[in-house]
Amino acid sequence: MNWTVIYKDQVSSLMDEMKKLGEDGSPEGTVMCAQSQSCGRGRQGRVWSSPEGGLYFAVLLRPQWDMSRISLVTLLSAVAVCEAIINYTEIHVTIKWPNDLLLEGRKLAGILVESQIKGRAVDFVVVGIGINVNSDLQDLPEEGVSLRHISAQQYDFKNLLDSILERFEFWYDQCGDLGFQDLINRWKQLGETLGQRVQYDDGQGKVAGEAFDLAEDGSLMIRCDDGRIVCKSSGEIKRPV
Ligand code: BTN
Repeated sequence: MNWTVIYKDQVSSLMDEMKKLGEDGSPEGTVMCAQSQSCGRGRQGRVWSSPEGGLYFAVLLRPQWDMSRISLVTLLSAVAVCEAIINYTEIHVTIKWPNDLLLEGRKLAGILVESQIKGRAVDFVVVGIGINVNSDLQDLPEEGVSLRHISAQQYDFKNLLDSILERFEFWYDQCGDLGFQDLINRWKQLGETLGQRVQYDDGQGKVAGEAFDLAEDGSLMIRCDDGRIVCKSSGEIKRPV
């Protein structure tokens, strides 16, 4: 992959900046990184608080994969970021399905994947990543945590970004050349969700059960308390209270 990294001071949201570049025909491997975002956004319409001290970036991809496998970009991103953080900091982070990075049960990083479709194919995918690296705890939401808070060290953004892009490229090439099984196996090693009791809202109310496997497309397989087996392809899960 030919990575080209564009650095900015402050942007509104890197998702929108990168979408413009995608629409203008920028190549796969374009990366934009900002010191802060005034309107950072997260999954499910949430705000992603983006003060200075965090690493915020977005990656442009043009995967030539079967449409049914595009959702796996989500798991790929989580695995790449998780491995890079462990390699670079030796701090043990885990993945909560599908792609939240947790440290001591609190949120360290979030990943937002948005795709643009043209006709019946994917034109491009934007992967937006926010990591609380050197952030002050008081600037983060209640459930947030930063690497600096845990280790009392400051980290170099450029080295961490290089490390993430290296893992990203490894898994992207691997999936393109050999398929997705190794990625799914690696996610299972790093993920903490399988084997847990989880709860989600199926639109009609809360459903609880045990998360027991990942399907081929990255969906979470849950054995519900009423005996049903469901495959959840997106959305949020929680630990039952
Ligand atoms: C989540 O966990 O809800 C996903 C958070 C994603 C945040 C990143 S920061 C870079 C990019 N720009 C945004 O506005 N959001 C993503």
